Parts: sequence; C-alpha cells; structure tokens
Amino acid sequence: MAAYHIVLVHFPIALWMTATMAILLRAFSDGELAQAVDRALVPLLTVALISGLVAFAVGLMVWPWESISSTPLGRNHVLLASWTVAYWALLLVTRWLRGQAVWVGTSRWIMAGLALLGSVLLGITGTLGGHLVGIYTEVANALRWLGWEVFTTFYIPHATLAAIGVITLLLVGLGLWGRRASASPSA
Ligand code: HEM
Repeated sequence: MAAYHIVLVHFPIALWMTATMAILLRAFSDGELAQAVDRALVPLLTVALISGLVAFAVGLMVWPWESISSTPLGRNHVLLASWTVAYWALLLVTRWLRGQAVWVGTSRWIMAGLALLGSVLLGITGTLGGHLVGIYTEVANALRWLGWEVFTTFYIPHATLAAIGVITLLLVGLGLWGRRASASPSA
C-alpha cells in the first residue's frame, strides 16, 4: 500500500498547488485569463478534494493503525493531513456557495490568504510524510525555528483551545449579524 499512497499523494499536492496559483491570479487580476481560470476553480477544487480523500484513505492502510498512531511523527502526519483535507474542503464550499462574491472588495485578499495558508498546511503534511520515509527537508528546520519540533506530538494547550472556541463563536456571530444587516432594507 505504501507505493500506492506515494503515487496517489501527488494528485492532491499538484491540484491544490494549481488551485493556489489560480486563486492568487484571480485575487490580483480581473483580466480575461484570470476570469477563465476562476471558472475552472470549483471543478478543480472538487477533483483535488476527491483525490485528497482517496490519498487519505489509502494512507490509513499503509501501516497498521497501532504503528502510525504510536509515533509522534506518524500522529503529526495524520493530524496535518486531516487539517489539510478539511481546510481545502471548506475553501471549495466557500467558493461554491459564495460564487463571484468572494472576489469583491477585501474578500479577494482573504481568499489569497486562505489559499496560501492551505498550501502551507499541505507543505507541512508532505514534509512529515517525507520524514516518515527518511527524506528530510529544511521545512522541519523552519518549523523548529518557529517553536515546533516535528518529532514531538503537536498539541494545543487547553487555554489556546478555549480561545479558539471563543473566537470561532464570535466569528459565527459576526457573520450572522452581518448577513442580517445586509438583508435588512437600507433607510
Ligand atoms: C491528503 C493527505 C496526505 C498527503 C498529502 C500525504 C503525503 C505524504 C507524502 C508526500 C509522503 C512521502 C512519500 C515519499 O516521498 O516517499 C507520505 C508518506 C506516508 N504517509 Fe501520507 N499523506 C496524506 C495522508 C496520510 C494519512 C491519512 C496517513 C495514515 C493514516 C498517511 C500515512 C503515510 C505513511 C505511513 C507514509 C510512509 C510511507 C512508507 O512507509 O513508505 N498519509 N505521505
């Protein structure tokens, strides 16, 4: 199964990197090319997500769960892979449901930021996968420099988790409030 996983991961990696470039192009340009590329974004993100889910499922079959879940590096790879897949799924849903509105005003820069963050998550997932097979890169050194040793299980302190929960609720509230404000007729 290892060989299949290694072959399959190249699809989501290439497709999500392409999607990142497409989003950046559309964020910076209203030109014809950018508009054409944007029309392909939902299908592109959909195919990328499907290939990501397949790579994920096959990844679960490479080593016995007891092995991958008992090593910090293995746990980190699974954790980051879950974040990456969930994150890009949300980006797809956002572009799908919001349509062209995501390119209006500051939203386009938020999209650019989200795409860059998505590629960072993807890059870390791939880096950790590489570490599992003994291929080391400077990315791990960069993460170490930022305060995370990739050979130790990544964890979030309870206080940080609580802060994230509160911020999430605030953002949802803000979104609902904003929607109501824009739906009500202006005076
Ligand atoms: C979309 C999600 C994923 C991506 C992008 C990804 C990416 C990678 C990459 C780039 C490698 C190194 C391949 C190489 O250069 O030889 C790798 C290896 C590995 N991955 Fe993943 N991975 C994902 C999900 C998972 C999941 C969910 C698991 C397990 C639960 C997993 C388990 C493994 C294992 C065990 C290896 C080492 C394979 C070996 O022993 O040859 N991966 N992965």
